[in-house]
Amino acid sequence: MNLKPVLFSIFFISTVILKSTSQEVSLKRTTSVGNRIVEFIPTGFDKNKTPSLIFATEPKPKGKVPTDWSLIPEFTFNNSKASAVLNLKEDISLYGGGEVTGPLLRNGQAIKLWNTDTGAYSVEGGKRLYQTHPWVMGVRKDGSAFGIIFDSTWKAELITNSDQIIYNSEGALFRVYIIDRKSPQEVMKGLSELTGTIKLPPRWALGYHQCRFSYDSEKRVMEIADTFREKKIPADVVWMDIDYMQGYRVFTFDSIRFPNPKVLNNNLHKKGFKAIYMIDPGVKVDKEYSVYKSGTKNNVWVKKNNGEEYHGKVWPGDCAFPDFTNPKTRNWWSGLYKDFLNIGIDGVWNDMNEPAVNDNDFPEGKRLGTMPYDTPHKGGGNLPKGDHLLYHNAYGRLMVEASYDGILKTNPAKRPFLLTRSNLLGGQRYAATWTGDNYASVEHMKLSVPMSITLGLSGQPFSGPDIGGFLGDTSGDLWANWLGFGAFMPFARGHACAGTNDKEPWAFGPEIEKTSRIALERRYRLLPYLYTLFYQSSKTGMPVMAPVFFADTKDSRLRAEEQAFLLGANLLVIPAFAKDPILPSGIWEELNLIEGEKQDKYQAKLSIRGGSIIPAGKVIQNAGENSFDPLSLFVCLDASGKANGELYLDSGDGFGFEKGDYVLLTFNAEKKSDTVFVKISKVEGKRNSDEDVKAVNVSVMLEGKIYTGSGTLKDGITIDLK
Ligand code: GLC
Repeated sequence: MNLKPVLFSIFFISTVILKSTSQEVSLKRTTSVGNRIVEFIPTGFDKNKTPSLIFATEPKPKGKVPTDWSLIPEFTFNNSKASAVLNLKEDISLYGGGEVTGPLLRNGQAIKLWNTDTGAYSVEGGKRLYQTHPWVMGVRKDGSAFGIIFDSTWKAELITNSDQIIYNSEGALFRVYIIDRKSPQEVMKGLSELTGTIKLPPRWALGYHQCRFSYDSEKRVMEIADTFREKKIPADVVWMDIDYMQGYRVFTFDSIRFPNPKVLNNNLHKKGFKAIYMIDPGVKVDKEYSVYKSGTKNNVWVKKNNGEEYHGKVWPGDCAFPDFTNPKTRNWWSGLYKDFLNIGIDGVWNDMNEPAVNDNDFPEGKRLGTMPYDTPHKGGGNLPKGDHLLYHNAYGRLMVEASYDGILKTNPAKRPFLLTRSNLLGGQRYAATWTGDNYASVEHMKLSVPMSITLGLSGQPFSGPDIGGFLGDTSGDLWANWLGFGAFMPFARGHACAGTNDKEPWAFGPEIEKTSRIALERRYRLLPYLYTLFYQSSKTGMPVMAPVFFADTKDSRLRAEEQAFLLGANLLVIPAFAKDPILPSGIWEELNLIEGEKQDKYQAKLSIRGGSIIPAGKVIQNAGENSFDPLSLFVCLDASGKANGELYLDSGDGFGFEKGDYVLLTFNAEKKSDTVFVKISKVEGKRNSDEDVKAVNVSVMLEGKIYTGSGTLKDGITIDLK
């Protein structure tokens, strides 16, 4: 392609070349919309045919396309289906695509973008999961990187060949955005400049979560909570799956098994637990049911082309579905949360929102597992009317926008916590995610690492698997192996399907209980570091769980490593199952946090990067307890005897931090002859850290030895190396 028109003019139109089967489509407009971010609009693009749901705000022209720009997509159109191709002229390592099975390194992969309820990842061999991320990142040999967004929600496939990135949609033309920067980290920042970041979660959401389908009575829920506290296994949340509802009617409670949810929530709170409840999109068709009645009155349901309500089967039987493309419907939905949450519910779990429909009674070949493709959606606001083929991949994303809004409106002084199964690129702005219905197998355990890394590389840093595996029975060995590293994933929740064995930390006997306690105590000690990473991610879009190659983007050996992972930039996590992981060179020192962890074969190995300081707290039983009495700083010096690190602190919930009620401390350490001096080198924010942090213990890790000292932040701490 001739680059001149792109390089020297912002607008250009060239001729459309007709081919026998597909038409090549010229570029109508090529514009810079950010620092080394270029927008490509094909001739014939119509935002009423392909609306945008990915970006936080509509990209705006900003300056000229860089003169050295070389990445230019080519568009084609064939039988009303649009495609785009980016030809790759050199060796590139490819990543992304959102929620995917298979390897971390995506060269030679193809996935379907059509959100699907994929139990055991069995649909099309796991090439089609619950979410849509039309996004690929490429990393060049020299460590520089680019990312490409296909701004469309149409049903599509995403092919990542080594020489071409191909996006074939089943709908109209769409815009493409390319970010080309000096490193993958900078590309991640660019992605967040376009799609936004996560909101800072409440601190408790970073604790351990215990779930099951279902803890099916108030009594059982309290038994679970009490057992954590009796056994001194740290945890923050108990989850209520569908059986709390009256006949699976959303926003209701079973009058026999959950007669007093307010009292239950209150009792959980007294024990330092939070309560999260599930809400699905399907609303039972029942003329006596308040939510169905209200939805009908407000005309919110998806309707078929003949004007009748669309009904599909989910847990409660026949359900109607809110048409979330319509702003009035979203507003109605968000209003439902008020009374529901006001009984002390702390967080919400939106599930089945692909939307999943059970049409197993249809003959094979006719089953869609969702609404028929031609089901119309109303649209409204910025969204045009459109078929399900266009809006299916945005259904979950639009639902969580409405849910987030309802949660925030109900409790404006608290940070919402929302978990979703289905989502779209950019949907991290509203909800965290988990990787759906995995299986209790070693294969799925190993897969959970590249899955969450890839979500992080696709803009969603807050994710994790069902630890232990959801479907099938879990052995003690599998549980312990999984929790041994799952304790370091951004979202750490154990979950289990109905009919499977108990999967709580104590369910596998005393040995595994001990292992589980150690794993979770390690996570809780690291909460100050983890919370700092979430804060940074909420500012810059940086993944919390990152691939090992982020430690050295020029080291091509690391590009496919998918057993080990990084937590932030400074901590390497090597799961116990990892065989010969390829690790970054340079200085890394082993980090030990809990007595007995070294002898425990299930615990992941942790290493701290040379040049860094990791803040840690003491072992606490839930994130609401004071972590910083004392604060620990783990220091690993670089070759020049220096290290630095950060600690972010705030009240743990609410929005005071937006008005300055936080503190971000930067620590520096420097070795001079036989001493290391650690001090605060920078303070940001208005919060007085002395109230939270009293004593400080410092451990300097040097060539396999540990040197300790203690003191206060104010005076700095000297550690003697003699
Ligand atoms: C879906 C969810 C699973 C949940 C179950 C019952 O399968 O993915 O996590 O437990 O529904 O609500």
